[in-house]
Amino acid sequence: MSKLIDIIAGARPNFMKIAPIIDAFKSHHFEQKGINFRLIHTGQHYDKNMSETFFDELGIPHPDINLQVGSGTQAEQTAKIMVAYEQILLEKPSNLCIVVGDVTSTMACSIAARKLHIDVAHIEGGIRSYDETMPEEINRKVTDAITNYFFTTSEVANQNLRREGIKEEKIFFVGNTMIDTLLKNITRLKQPKIWAENGLKEQAYIVMTLHRPANVDDPANLLHLVKIVSETVAPNKIIFPIHPRTRKVYESLDLQPENIILSEPMGYLEFNYLVKNAKVVITDSGGITEETTVMKVPCLTLRDSTERPETCTVGTNQLIGTDPNKLIEPLKDIFAGNWKKGEIPELWDGNTADRIAEILERIV
Ligand code: UD1
Repeated sequence: MSKLIDIIAGARPNFMKIAPIIDAFKSHHFEQKGINFRLIHTGQHYDKNMSETFFDELGIPHPDINLQVGSGTQAEQTAKIMVAYEQILLEKPSNLCIVVGDVTSTMACSIAARKLHIDVAHIEGGIRSYDETMPEEINRKVTDAITNYFFTTSEVANQNLRREGIKEEKIFFVGNTMIDTLLKNITRLKQPKIWAENGLKEQAYIVMTLHRPANVDDPANLLHLVKIVSETVAPNKIIFPIHPRTRKVYESLDLQPENIILSEPMGYLEFNYLVKNAKVVITDSGGITEETTVMKVPCLTLRDSTERPETCTVGTNQLIGTDPNKLIEPLKDIFAGNWKKGEIPELWDGNTADRIAEILERIV
């Protein structure tokens, strides 16, 4: 009897995590074995440069279904996704729902699936920041409370799950699908136009990304941050691909320093080209700290906690906290050439999706 697996993607950081899974379904001949999939885009991110570009660049097939939920409060998005996905499942139930990461779409689809007695597999299960002021932490905890199969990126995640009483046979330590995508594309990275436009040189500029409310919602705080970074690294340039949320606040600031170069959110290949050649990355993202670790680029994270501690203990990342003054010394160290080289975390080897496919074949 044939089986149907749903693969859910909703927001930018999901797309690079699902791409290798779809590839592995093909290389493991799932279709010939009677295992079919539906790719479901919730529409949480809908701008071309937050969504479609990633599908094009990473060769992800056009979604079979787009729930088109769009923007809204967390509860509005959750509710709309649940209602729309439930409808799809009622019309044609699947045998397994695969969710990735920690965005609102991840949580909403797992709830809708489980309430209809459909098993959920969570890729990147078990990671915890233990900071419930972050919406992603709530999403992780709720998703993992009802997940049937946990595919994990680290031993720390395994331990978190064990502590929460998850049985060993439900935990599969497979590695990191985001890194599968990075390693597959590392030789295809693409120099963006702003490279030539700004005369950028390897190791002589920095990349900054910010979108967490704690860093960007208060204009006075954002201004302070921007001033510190600009002054500390001058005359080096700061490339700042700006999230829609951050742009609104940034444009209201009295000061937009000359060495900060704004760009629209970038595609995958161009963004990672910039990261690979940067002196340092300043970010409040989680996923980027994994990519800098693998590319061995120093990374400073403007958060108090991380759900990815191996990027600090094994990799090149350091937690700074949210006080921008704390950036000054580490930035000076990095420009002086004093920074840890880091190692690659266990199983972040480019073969994670293959391991996942082998396991899925057994469990679906
Ligand atoms: C979401 C994820 C976050 C992830 C981030 C990466 C949750 C809770 N958060 O946060 O974990 O790191 O994506 O980008 O799921 N907007 C647009 N165009 C779009 C999408 C959003 O302009 O295509 C605007 C919205 O109108 C809103 C803001 O961006 O004002 C926030 O979007 P939302 O999807 O709510 O969350 P993110 O902050 O992007």
